Amino acid sequence: MNIENIKARKSVRTYNEENISPEILEKIGEFIKKADNPFNIPIELRLLDANEHRLSSPVIIGAKKYVAGKYKKQINGEVAFGYSFEKFVLYATEIGLGTVWIAGTMDRKAFESAMDIKEGEIMPAVTPIGYKADKRSIRENIMRKAIKADSRINFDKLFFKNDFNTALNENEAGKWLIPLQMVRWAPSGVNRQPWRVVVEGDKIYFYEKRTKGYERDNVGDAQKIDLGIALCHFDIATREIGLKGHFYQDNPNIATPENTEYIATFGLGK
Ligand SMILES: Cc1cc2nc3c(=O)[nH]c(=O)nc-3n(C[C@H](O)[C@H](O)[C@H](O)COP(=O)(O)O)c2cc1C
Repeated sequence: MNIENIKARKSVRTYNEENISPEILEKIGEFIKKADNPFNIPIELRLLDANEHRLSSPVIIGAKKYVAGKYKKQINGEVAFGYSFEKFVLYATEIGLGTVWIAGTMDRKAFESAMDIKEGEIMPAVTPIGYKADKRSIRENIMRKAIKADSRINFDKLFFKNDFNTALNENEAGKWLIPLQMVRWAPSGVNRQPWRVVVEGDKIYFYEKRTKGYERDNVGDAQKIDLGIALCHFDIATREIGLKGHFYQDNPNIATPENTEYIATFGLGK
């Protein structure tokens, strides 16, 4: 997974007839066994057959296979899930497959049954996998337009310097520019983009700016998943450009705006 895959990924909701070959399905099976994340929270991903389990989503056309994931409810579970699942999404992109994060618009009962969801387990999202059709469905086009899927909030509204009162412009982001651009291009539920970042020297603080009225209690705080996706993109980009660091939990002394919650810190070094 690399920066190219992050840039190339776009949601695919309309698939063509082509089957995924058994060899590629096998590769996927191997990949999903190692769904790691910086929180070391086990995330179980499964490859599912749409026909066999009668899986469907009102926004998806033509998907024959899905990958879904689950974890045991716990602190940081959503963020860990977001990280691990996005890693799979980017792997799928790398091998030429289309995906789309689906947390809401699906026959949840059918998916949860296929995933053997037990008491205390959460299945936040699924993705179809397959080959992109030549043309998007009309519904998909309308959806993308409605949620402005091709644009993102301006860089200097998402990222800050030392505190939340000082915007960070692209031309002052220095070595953090590409990793932050990769955060900015991350997918998020309803394209709400809840990630906020404060850069303080060699420390990067990630925050969640919760959208009012967007919490869903059956899958926890859904926007924390978006934060996990952001961490995944940041991690991949920093590695690729040779910045060695890691994520940890910190206690930043930074005043936070309303509805904004600290999630994790990235620091350079071991
Ligand atoms: C956690 C999460 C949940 C999502 N849930 C849905 C969903 O239920 N239905 C859907 O059509 N798209 C869903 N999406 C896809 C987003 O709408 C999409 O990523 C966003 O509009 C940006 O478009 P892009 O992925 O093409 O860049 C979800 C995305 C994320 C990250």
